[in-house]
Amino acid sequence: MTTRINFNGEIGPDAFISVLDHGFLFGDSVYEVVVTQNGLPCFMKEHLRRLRNSADGLTLTIPWSDEKIMEQVARTVIDAGNSESYIRIIVTRGMGDLDIDPTSCSNPELIVLVTELKNYPASSYEKGINVALVSIKRNAKDTVNPGIKTGNYLNNVLAKVESNHMGAQDALMLNHQGHLTECTTSNFFFVCDGRVQTPSLSCGILAGITRDVLLQLAQENGILIEQGEWPPESLAKAEEAFITGTVKKVMPVTHLDGKPVADGQPGPVTRRLMRLYDSALEMEGKGSA
Ligand code: PDD
Repeated sequence: MTTRINFNGEIGPDAFISVLDHGFLFGDSVYEVVVTQNGLPCFMKEHLRRLRNSADGLTLTIPWSDEKIMEQVARTVIDAGNSESYIRIIVTRGMGDLDIDPTSCSNPELIVLVTELKNYPASSYEKGINVALVSIKRNAKDTVNPGIKTGNYLNNVLAKVESNHMGAQDALMLNHQGHLTECTTSNFFFVCDGRVQTPSLSCGILAGITRDVLLQLAQENGILIEQGEWPPESLAKAEEAFITGTVKKVMPVTHLDGKPVADGQPGPVTRRLMRLYDSALEMEGKGSA
C-alpha cells in the first residue's frame, strides 16, 4: 500500500500542516472522498461541485479551478501507483491568527491524500451489517448544516462511538424533530410494503453522491424511491434496509439494534440496487459515464 500526500502541489509520503491552520484549530475545512475504478476517479464532476458548495457554506473561497484540482488529483494518483485509490481532497481555511475569526486567513491550503482503496469485507455485502439507532442527534440544519461536508465530524464521531458500544457497525441518527436522517458516513434507505424510502434532504442530511446516482438508476429502472420524513417506528415493519456511500457503495443492513430486519438476509431490492450501482461504477471505469 502506498500513501502519497500532495500538499499545495508538493507530493511526498507525508505532509505537515501548521498548527495555526484554522482547519486544525477549528475544523474550518471542507473535504471530499473519491474512489477510482480502473484507476479513474469516479463522479469527479459531482464531487467537485459538492466541494465548492460546502466551501460556499463556510464562506471559504476555493481559489483553484476544477481543472487545477483534477490535475493535482491525477498527479497524486499516478505517483501513488496503487491499483485502485482512495482519494481525499481537503481544502482548509489556511493559516491565520489564533482567533476564531477567519478573516486573518488569506491562503487556503489544498491537500490531496491518496492511498490504496481498501474495500469492505465481502461478508458485509453477503451477510449485511448491524446498524444501531443512537441517542446522538444529527446536527440541526441551522447549526453546522449536515448538507455541507466540513472537516468537523465530531457529532458523527460521537455517534460512531455510541454504536461501537452497542456492538454495531454504524450509527443511524435522528434529527431534532425525531425523524430518521443518515449514518455517520453514509445515507440510509429502507424498504416497507415493497416501497424504497429514504430521508429527504430537508431532514438535514448530506446529499450523498452515491444516493443521487442510486435515485437516478432506480428511476431509469422503474424502481420508485420515496423521499420523506419518517419516525424510527417505521423501521419496525422494514423488509429491507441498506446504506450508501462512496467507499461502502450499496451495503445491506440486515440488523437494526441487533434485531434482524425481516429474515436478517440482504433482500431482493437491495441486491438489485447493489448490481445496478456496480454497473454504474464499471461505466465510470470505462470513462463512459
Ligand atoms: N462520507 N453522509 C455523510 C455524513 C457522509 O460523510 C457521507 C460520505 C455520505 C455519503 O456520501 P457519498 O455517497 O457522496 O460518499 C453521507 C465519506 C465517504 C467519508 O467521509 O468518508
